[in-house]
Amino acid sequence: MNHPSPDSRIRPVSWVNGVVEMLDQRLLPEQETYVRLQTSHEIAGAIHDMVVRGAPAIGIAAAYGVVLAVRQVINAGSADWQTAIEPLMQQLAEARPTAVNLHWAITRMRRRFTEVTDDPEAGLLAEARAIQAEDVEANRRMGELGAAVIGRVDAVLTHCNAGALATGGYGTALGVVRSLYAKQHLAMVYACETRPWLQGSRLTAWELSIDQIPVTLIADSVAATLMQAGKISWVIVGADRIAANGDVANKIGTYAHAVCARHPRHHGVRFMVVAPTSTFDPQTASGKQIPIEVRDGRELTHFRGRPIAPVAAHSHNPVFDVTPADLIDCIVTEKGVIQRPDQAKIQALLAR
Ligand code: MRU
Repeated sequence: MNHPSPDSRIRPVSWVNGVVEMLDQRLLPEQETYVRLQTSHEIAGAIHDMVVRGAPAIGIAAAYGVVLAVRQVINAGSADWQTAIEPLMQQLAEARPTAVNLHWAITRMRRRFTEVTDDPEAGLLAEARAIQAEDVEANRRMGELGAAVIGRVDAVLTHCNAGALATGGYGTALGVVRSLYAKQHLAMVYACETRPWLQGSRLTAWELSIDQIPVTLIADSVAATLMQAGKISWVIVGADRIAANGDVANKIGTYAHAVCARHPRHHGVRFMVVAPTSTFDPQTASGKQIPIEVRDGRELTHFRGRPIAPVAAHSHNPVFDVTPADLIDCIVTEKGVIQRPDQAKIQALLAR
């Protein structure tokens, strides 16, 4: 008998009664608190401050941000709303630098501008809702495709949170986990805590436990030992940007797991990236050109406002790294699976 439905009740971003509602991910797992945002400026701030995070979720938030921006400029009496909105869209686009889904969503919203002149807010809201619905649909499809590649395993390892919390509401890497678990093809998910922001312990462990999927939390540095002990079959992660050659930017620490998994003389663990085609950036030739966000060192030196390091210590806090394409077994997208990714295979998939 299958486990219950793999779906999740978690929705990180929703449009409710004319405003954007967001689950404040900074407060999880202690508090499940929703905030209501009424301006594009507030949305940009929420993306920057990580009230919402995860590449597809910030794209969806930005799309709703464009709807709020249109309302603002029209209410301000602007004769030419399409020009007046540009600085607000720019502010949304600059909220975080690495996840290309943010730019993808804003570009898609802008493409609708010329078609929605009668009632711009209603027309653009329909587009933002479509972006969210299509993301959930893509996640479900990737979940099935990824689960078919993996088959039946005891345990997988994941890093950061690439779940319902990071998407329209299902998950990329955790979408594959959901599909595997629903088929009873997976017994345990090892979740790396993901220093310094703790997306693994605060978010992935929370999300999986409320959806009753067995999860074991580990410190990031335990991953190698688990692989050495033969406990992990696959590492499954999401992505923030995939360059034309298949290099993948994802949460800091992902590269170390890939090296560890794929090192020929060591573990023979397979490495899967799960990402919708909105995460591909054909304009960026390789991972070397992907902008890597460096966040405030206080994320390292402090925990919820309290110091956990000496004040005299310098800190360096890059929050993404790049895993080269040749360390990746496959990239799962809603359009299909790319085995041993390279530029030609990616081009062919995106052209479908
Ligand atoms: O800094 P974050 O929490 O936004 O980083 C998120 C990640 O790195 C995720 O793995 C990635 O966005 C994929 S989410 C489906």
